Amino acid sequence: MTAVDVVIMAAGKGTRMKSRLPKVLHRLGGRALVDHVVARARQLQARRIVLVTGHGAAQVEEAVSALERGDGQAVPAFVRQEPQLGTGHAVQQALPQLPDDGIALILNGDVPLIEAATLQALVDSCAGQRLALLTVEMPDPTGYGRILRSGDAVRAIVEHKDADEAQRGIREVYSGFMAVPNALLKRWLARLTNDNAQGEYYLTDIVRLAVDDGAEVVAVRTADKLQVDGVNSPQQLADLERAFQLRQARALMEQGVRLADPARFDLRGTLDCGQDVEIDVNCVFEGKVRLGEGVRIGPNCVIANADIGAGAVLHAFTHVEGESAGVRVGEGALVGPFARLRPGADLGPEVHIGNFVEVKNASLARGAKANHLAYLGDATVGERVNYGAGSITANYDGANKHRTVIEDDVHIGSNSVLVAPVTIGRGGTVGGGSVISKDTPANALSVARAKQVSIANWQRPKKQPK
Ligand code: UD1
Ligand code: CA
Repeated sequence: MTAVDVVIMAAGKGTRMKSRLPKVLHRLGGRALVDHVVARARQLQARRIVLVTGHGAAQVEEAVSALERGDGQAVPAFVRQEPQLGTGHAVQQALPQLPDDGIALILNGDVPLIEAATLQALVDSCAGQRLALLTVEMPDPTGYGRILRSGDAVRAIVEHKDADEAQRGIREVYSGFMAVPNALLKRWLARLTNDNAQGEYYLTDIVRLAVDDGAEVVAVRTADKLQVDGVNSPQQLADLERAFQLRQARALMEQGVRLADPARFDLRGTLDCGQDVEIDVNCVFEGKVRLGEGVRIGPNCVIANADIGAGAVLHAFTHVEGESAGVRVGEGALVGPFARLRPGADLGPEVHIGNFVEVKNASLARGAKANHLAYLGDATVGERVNYGAGSITANYDGANKHRTVIEDDVHIGSNSVLVAPVTIGRGGTVGGGSVISKDTPANALSVARAKQVSIANWQRPKKQPK
């Protein structure tokens, strides 16, 4: 088995994106384009991965390093191409990283949905001796390099801008992926010139040079256009995003997940679903989300980094943002509509969180309820607690965060402020409107507000005559 060295080209400007962000850092399915490509390269067990950067190099290198480290992976080797004189020139910069005994697998950093099996087929066709090109029939081949053949044999690639009318009619195009023995690649790249419509060193010219040398050139055709669709403009990015989302939606439906509308579903990460999960329209899932058996998600929910237990229901417009601490929702819990669960929210089984309730870094034990307009931050809430409308934990003194402990079976009346650190004893009741700043005993009624007075025969002020 010949070693595979992957070269990913990511130095281009991406002019048609009209963005300050380097093109390969634009996101598809929540991940940078280049990150999709690097992930595919990893699946091939490549000997090394070389990323050619140029436009926005420092930004791209930093972003890729952070992403790979985040995944616990080794950072690729970076090679800079400055200035950017074309794709052939880009690969020339990587040559010192490519030992003669290997196969170079060249990938475009802006073609994110390529699959490992397709790349493997390309490497297999190269077999350490041939130039293997991945090609595809495009209904509209505008902008792509066309594959010129004599009979069956591939003769050359002509770039769109250099192609004549007849050549532009060819619909078989170069996908941007090739596998080529390193030693031959070096020989051919040394002979590139830039006398073409764009004044660039085209990688695709090595096909003509290979043919001149009598070397074997093979085209591996794929029927799956989506895998080779490149991103050059916001329109193409959006089109590819929808195609990618539809593909993910279909895969979930095949597993039995019921999506109200696969065209209104967005997964920017991973979603792991039990049996009989139902997801209504316009939901967005980010990071790592697990939905247990029978979970129902109402319309317009945004759910990031969360573990939702079996039978739980998230009503419409619920926002769950687990970030690194994560959010856990227990079995049979009811959340929303319009609820907000922030990092470290940990709801036990059968917990109810109603509208306009925010929970952050707080655990609620079995059967606890906060049904309306409330804040629970840095709190430990016991079983069956009822937390009244409008109540809040005052967890922040302006410098430090403090914890509120509400023991089992407590009833917090409406509009209470629990000034942390404070503990409300088991079975206790807090009178509505109280500001509680001292621990309360178990089973007591605690009231902390001005005593009610009534002034008899009170005369309201009257309007003065002008
Ligand atoms: C390229 C191919 C074309 C193919 C198409 C498939 C060439 C000359 N043309 O065209 O045949 O059909 O891809 O998507 O190769 N890049 C660099 N340095 C440069 C120029 C580009 O690293 O100097 C990188 C870009 O960042 C990008 C990739 O190479 O990731 C392709 O460049 P791009 O300008 O998008 O090439 P296309 O015109 O799409
Ligand atoms: Ca391109």
